[in-house]
Amino acid sequence: MRNESEERLAKLEEKYASMGQDMNAYLDGLLISNYLPYWEYVNLDTLLTLQKPRTDFPDEQIFIMYHQITELYFRLALHEMEQIAHNGRNVLPNGNDLGWNDSLDPAFLLERLQRINRYFDALTQSYGVMETGMDKEQFLRFRMALLPASGFQSAQYRKIEICATPLRNLVHRDHRDSFAATADDDKGMDAMFQHIYWKAGATEIGTGKKTLTLHQFEQKYGAELLNLAKDYRAKNIWARYASLPETDRQRPELVSQMRLLDANVNINWPLQHYRTAARYLLRDKDEVAATGGTNWQQYLPPRFMKRIFFPDLWTPQEKDEWGRSWLIAQLNEARKE
Ligand code: HEM
Repeated sequence: MRNESEERLAKLEEKYASMGQDMNAYLDGLLISNYLPYWEYVNLDTLLTLQKPRTDFPDEQIFIMYHQITELYFRLALHEMEQIAHNGRNVLPNGNDLGWNDSLDPAFLLERLQRINRYFDALTQSYGVMETGMDKEQFLRFRMALLPASGFQSAQYRKIEICATPLRNLVHRDHRDSFAATADDDKGMDAMFQHIYWKAGATEIGTGKKTLTLHQFEQKYGAELLNLAKDYRAKNIWARYASLPETDRQRPELVSQMRLLDANVNINWPLQHYRTAARYLLRDKDEVAATGGTNWQQYLPPRFMKRIFFPDLWTPQEKDEWGRSWLIAQLNEARKE
């Protein structure tokens, strides 16, 4: 009877032999390798060099770091979405990767949706760090040194949308109906992308012209985002959910997490973000502080753009009331149940 170490050695030998490798050479490496400290594992020193304020206002640090924290949460959400898109990775305990599964396990989808919702909850709940956690006078001064940068240029935010829903749901609401019957072949997708909702943001309020913020964003990410949309047309969250058998699709907990995701990304986070923008940029009810002159007040509130990832999961009344207080009250009630 071999002891535990011998068993492990035998397994290791097998592992390395299967790749034509000599286990003893790897064991020599192990003998001289260092123990892994925490700070190396999480790359702490590098992480802490990434905050580079453009001014000397102390609160600019808060602004930078909260954006970075948000981008990391976005990355986590995308990480889950990539796994949903590929039906979950099939990994054996010995680390051998069998590639992607052929079909989606509804329990896997449910758990990943819960995770994404948790990330968005954390972001929405922590928004006070921005909304009330910076000195307003400092913010209004240091932001002028950051133009034309804007969270509007967050590509990960757009990627989350693209990985969640068919592109037609991201068409500007004024054009959405006209694409209802458009095929999602490359030509159809190119046409829809021309009318993507965000083109209506970051425009000059006076002239309706694109701002430099939008120009820069399109130049850097336009092609990449369109390609992603094409890649995800059959594997976005909605497509994956729709691929499940009817009985799974009807499961209340799954429907509830799908709806929550829609509400989190398209109502809860945007409302909290809008409130924050309003606190800093709206001096009184009618006056907009110099913002680079964008149309953010007509663009940011969820009830105006009405982005809905999963329209089939909402009643006509809920869709009519999108982003309005009635629906928000309903959602809060549902949360308590
Ligand atoms: C004091 C804090 C903030 C203010 C005043 C603010 C203001 C704005 C404004 C005015 C816009 C509209 C586009 C423009 O005119 O530039 C915008 C868009 C946006 N911001 Fe912020 N923002 C703040 C914090 C954040 C944070 C922390 C994030 C996290 C990444 C963020 C992400 C976004 C995104 C994704 C958009 C585009 C939204 C959409 O297209 O619907 N913002 N923000």
